[in-house]
Amino acid sequence: MNVLITGITGFAGSHLAEFLLSKGYEVHGIKRWRSRTENIEGFKDKIQVHECDIKDYQSVKKVIDKVKPGKIFHLAAQSFVPTSWNAPTETITTNVLGELNIFEAVREAGITPWIQIACSSEEYGLVHESETPMKETNPLRPLSPYAVSKIAQDFLGYQYTQSYKLNVVRTRTFNHEGPRRGEVFVTSNFAKQIAEIEKSKKPPVIYVGNLEARRDYTDVRDIVRGYWLATEKCIAGEVYNICSGRDWKIKDMLNYLLSLSKVKVEIKQDPARMRPSDVELLLGDNTKFVKQTGWKPEIKFEKTLEDTLNYWRERV
Ligand code: GDD
Repeated sequence: MNVLITGITGFAGSHLAEFLLSKGYEVHGIKRWRSRTENIEGFKDKIQVHECDIKDYQSVKKVIDKVKPGKIFHLAAQSFVPTSWNAPTETITTNVLGELNIFEAVREAGITPWIQIACSSEEYGLVHESETPMKETNPLRPLSPYAVSKIAQDFLGYQYTQSYKLNVVRTRTFNHEGPRRGEVFVTSNFAKQIAEIEKSKKPPVIYVGNLEARRDYTDVRDIVRGYWLATEKCIAGEVYNICSGRDWKIKDMLNYLLSLSKVKVEIKQDPARMRPSDVELLLGDNTKFVKQTGWKPEIKFEKTLEDTLNYWRERV
């Protein structure tokens, strides 16, 4: 079966491509002409990559008509929360219009693939401790343009299933990390800074933002297996949290990374890393997804952090 991954050159997309190859699928992906391809270098001969911009309907339609995928994993997005305050229009356009283009191209092609859409725990936004662990029924109180874009993607998935019988599965994924994670995201950023300090490439100072926030972390390799299971076992139109059900304070995550290294560092808050409104607490309830698919995370987060640090040690 042909499968199509949008965002194949990205972090989760590249891990998903490797997972789907191991399952014997014909893996296709799309990338913009200027996308960096280092994440797919190791297996690029085994996949087919098409040039496409999800904001351009004609370009999306051409790929859908050609590949006729049996499954689509829609991961392409403007995914960095802080950028969404600096570039809200770009964030909303890429994330919302990009998804609409895929849905419309699928309708026009007259095919009925399973479509997994990468929604986000950021949609829950402002959460009170008493409301955790967060279920799919929790209120959505978005705190960034990014979160609003993901709510729109999420609800479009619902609406297109209801209106046109598209087989959309909405996965609200909590934070996922591991090797290849973009360097702007906190685990990867701290690991890179430590690796640079180890090699004396920068003074022994780690710059940080809000260390009090808490995140529910899962390894990316567990998450992509979850995405595949979502298209195998979930119900069209439904929404599922994918998360570990365990939260880490960002400060504790940093301390764990530091415990893997011999460097002695000073920790300095960088005002530019603070957000206009941060989501302070994300702790999910994965019961619905686990019940439906049998999925459970297999990689401990300590191992994820170790792998991320080693990834940067090989690169800086
Ligand atoms: N990026 C970053 N850099 N974040 C920092 C830093 C820093 O130096 N210091 C503290 N933080 C805090 C942020 O304020 C936030 O509370 C937390 O660390 C995690 O930040 P990110 O790793 O940037 O991820 P995120 O939680 O904003 O968003 C990620 O997870 C979402 C799912 O919950 C992204 O992958 C989103 O695309 C995804 O939807």
